[in-house]
Amino acid sequence: MTIAPSILSSDFGKLAEEIQMLNESEAGVIHVDVMDGRFVPNISFGFPVMDVLRKHAKKPLDVHLMIEEPEKYALRFAEAGADWISFHIEATPHAHRLLQQIREAGKNAGIAINPQTPAAQISDLLGNLEFVNVMSVNPGFGGQRFIDASLKKIAALSAIRKENQLDFLIEVDGGVSIANALQLKKAGANVLVAGNSVFSMPSPKEAIAELQRICL
Ligand code: DX5
Ligand code: ZN
Repeated sequence: MTIAPSILSSDFGKLAEEIQMLNESEAGVIHVDVMDGRFVPNISFGFPVMDVLRKHAKKPLDVHLMIEEPEKYALRFAEAGADWISFHIEATPHAHRLLQQIREAGKNAGIAINPQTPAAQISDLLGNLEFVNVMSVNPGFGGQRFIDASLKKIAALSAIRKENQLDFLIEVDGGVSIANALQLKKAGANVLVAGNSVFSMPSPKEAIAELQRICL
């Protein structure tokens, strides 16, 4: 299991220190939530913060684009040092092309799907990507409650993967904690994004280790 702490929940006043802590932790990748105030009702950060992350991070940056017209910016995030890039199926009619372009840039390409979007909607893309980001909350904010129906969707994607002998990773994003990590693993998840359940703890580093331990 790969643990992907979301820096959205970190203390931006000491971002470099937070990244240093993640460098020393058991995190596999660092999850970076980019919000444009249009696709989601919130604005997070963009390229200047990416530069800080790239400068300090010793782990791959997993950039989750919650933006409209992702085709306009995805490759700029690749240039800015993203290693994984996911964008929303609900945000573009040209997902296939954009996945191709991200892969051609040498990055891991992913599709993110909102809670309302059935797994079947991305079935024709599953051979052309490295990972699917299953949103288990409505995108826009950290610290929300896990939507239970997401478990079924994860299991459905896992079954499609097996049937078609595909090897994409299933990332789960939103409301992940030590209370549901094992269940998510059993349903087929490979990457757990965790914001609030890591950064609200006295020791985020220990919280990451605990998530990892539960999934062994
Ligand atoms: C939500 C973001 C998530 C969020 C997860 O829009 O995509 O990555 O930071 O935060 P928690 O783990 O607090 O739900
Ligand atoms: Zn995210």
